[in-house]
Amino acid sequence: MRIVLGRQTEDLTTDGFRSRAAAYRLTLLDIGTGDGAFPYRVAGAYPEVLCVGLDPNREAPAAYASRARRKPARGGRANVLYVAAAVEAPPDALDASADLVTMNFPWAGLLARVLAGDSALTAALTKLARESWALQILLNAAAPPPSLERERGLLTPANVRERLDPALGPVRVTELPETARVASRWGGRLIRGSRRPIIRVRADFGAVPPQYDTLLNAAIGL
Ligand SMILES: C[S@@+](CC[C@H](N)C(=O)[O-])C[C@H]1O[C@@H](n2cnc3c(N)ncnc32)[C@H](O)[C@@H]1O
Repeated sequence: MRIVLGRQTEDLTTDGFRSRAAAYRLTLLDIGTGDGAFPYRVAGAYPEVLCVGLDPNREAPAAYASRARRKPARGGRANVLYVAAAVEAPPDALDASADLVTMNFPWAGLLARVLAGDSALTAALTKLARESWALQILLNAAAPPPSLERERGLLTPANVRERLDPALGPVRVTELPETARVASRWGGRLIRGSRRPIIRVRADFGAVPPQYDTLLNAAIGL
């Protein structure tokens, strides 16, 4: 698969990725990672977790990718990896790799698919995940997709819940409290800016240990 090193990219084989992942207790996969701040920061707080950012725009995470490759004393993080790919066409190497899947502030087509209950998206996420895994999606309540905007304006836990794919099973949909601090670029902007409400979607699949919830909470400052 194509991994982002900075301005350059490099191929990492499936075996290369698997042996790297085997050195860590858990793997977190951040879909639509953008500049990649979220996996970089989670990786700093959890050295035992391999944090993989996925984004089709390979230039977006370039700065964090090159920072992650520095010496540890200068911000280097061996447990961060950025993959240039869309969630619809991920490299096979990532199949069944993720214990935790995050998607922070998807926009445009990706947001529309989340809120159209797209079962192909659920299938794509499930393919990337292990048997037991936890999903967290954060949505900017003030930026609904055009279809919802025409109807009702703001996203709310209720209108998000009714639009999610039922195949996600029992989901918890809540509004984040004002004390939340999301460790992603867009999260920081939303919170620091107008304190727009953020909707959180959480789902667990299989026997998920409580530590997954603890980690996901910590990553959003809860
Ligand atoms: C609003 S940005 C959020 C970036 C980051 N998650 C954050 O919170 O700062 C949305 C990101 O989703 C990415 N994206 C769009 N379509 C995608 C897809 N099909 N698969 C994966 N990522 C996608 C975009 O390239 C963009 O970086």
